[in-house]
Amino acid sequence: MPRTIIEPFRIKSVEPIRWTTRREREQLLRAAHYNLFLLPAADVLIDLLTDSGTGAMSTHQWAAVMEGDESYAGSKSFDRFRASVQEIFGYRHVIPTHQGRAAERILFGIACKKGDLVPNNTHFDTTRANVEFAGAEAVDLVIPEGRQSQTDHPFKGNMDVVALRELIVRVGRDRIPLVMLTVTNNSGGGQPVSMANICEVSALCREHKIPLYFDACRFAENAYFIKLREKGYDSKTPKQIAQEMFSYGDGCTMSAKKDGMANIGGFLCTNDDLLAQQQKDLLILTEGYPTYGGLAGRDLEAIAVGLQEALEEDYLRYRIASTAYLGNHVAAQGVPIVQPPGGHAIYLDARAFLPHVPVEQFPGVALAAELYLEGGIRSVEIGSLMFGKSAKMDLVRLAIPRRVYTQSHIDYVVEIILEVWRKRGSIRGLKLNYEAPFLRHFTAKLEPV
Ligand code: F0G
Repeated sequence: MPRTIIEPFRIKSVEPIRWTTRREREQLLRAAHYNLFLLPAADVLIDLLTDSGTGAMSTHQWAAVMEGDESYAGSKSFDRFRASVQEIFGYRHVIPTHQGRAAERILFGIACKKGDLVPNNTHFDTTRANVEFAGAEAVDLVIPEGRQSQTDHPFKGNMDVVALRELIVRVGRDRIPLVMLTVTNNSGGGQPVSMANICEVSALCREHKIPLYFDACRFAENAYFIKLREKGYDSKTPKQIAQEMFSYGDGCTMSAKKDGMANIGGFLCTNDDLLAQQQKDLLILTEGYPTYGGLAGRDLEAIAVGLQEALEEDYLRYRIASTAYLGNHVAAQGVPIVQPPGGHAIYLDARAFLPHVPVEQFPGVALAAELYLEGGIRSVEIGSLMFGKSAKMDLVRLAIPRRVYTQSHIDYVVEIILEVWRKRGSIRGLKLNYEAPFLRHFTAKLEPV
């Protein structure tokens, strides 16, 4: 097979991106108070803020959009959506929602009560917030390697099964309404969970009669990492691997904005009939009738096709190779990144990148601001601004939208990161001028010290 990995698509509709001058970016950054969330997207050249809802749809998805059945109840689009989800996930009930966090709110709102605990490898921030909003405690139990940025391990997203067993024995199964596995582990660097680990967690849950749910946002990328890295899976298709993964669980929450290849949407799956009935009742109250759940029929069509496309091997080979290419090319020049490269994003270690900037001066925010100044790239800080004093690392995430940027865009990002790396000694920290009482990173205002 040729060595060069190409985009497995050609482009038939283009969206121009706009160059700005360095002087313009200096002004724009000042006006945005050094917070990239406050920048107009039109002033960003390469937008790596998130891979969520930012992907490009295929011709097949756009064609399916025209087939959207907008009936309030019993729409044909729902049937196609459910059939596509069930083929891959295999669960009895499929409940559409407007995005992932709506599925989380409904699941935890019904399953959790005050004093409960929900273990996960690592909760994503909305998942944690929804567990806590339901009165329960969110417990992160990723393996120790998953907390160290430089340690190499093929499945850094794995759950610490010994710690999970200890927790169940210590607090009792009655206080653990469900266990969750996030595939891939976004907050831990987009790192995968192995099939062996999924099996072990599943066996432990079944032994104690605790349901196992997946946070399935990036399930296709996880399946492909299993194919590449786990013994016995290299001749299986990503779809067969995904089907096996989900067979060990009892349900899932899903944001179709990631591996659903759609710009909006999500769903909740369960095998539990009683829970499904309660979930549908709550869905009608806040999201919509159970055959649309807050989505248009055309959105359901786009997801039905997108889920299948996310599992295509040509696509996954390009996707994982492209992310690794970015990470490996900057790491080869000494840039500190979370190792190994994850599925959807590269995470720069800002504390190691800017050792002269104290943690109180937000090294992650300072580095993200510099990447914008140097090359118009937007990334996101995951560190002291986002999590306050509880932040264990200061990372800058460069998340790659699906099927949006080409190899030359990635080469450009590499060049800009290396240029900032050369100038790192002159980068200054920032001080906070305004913060909201919660989720402060979205609206914070800062200035250079
Ligand atoms: N779970 C994980 C692992 C996620 O990464 C996200 C979203 C959600 C749940 C919530 O889904 O946005 O559809 O409500 N992650 C995005 C990100 C926002 O940028 O990583 P949602």
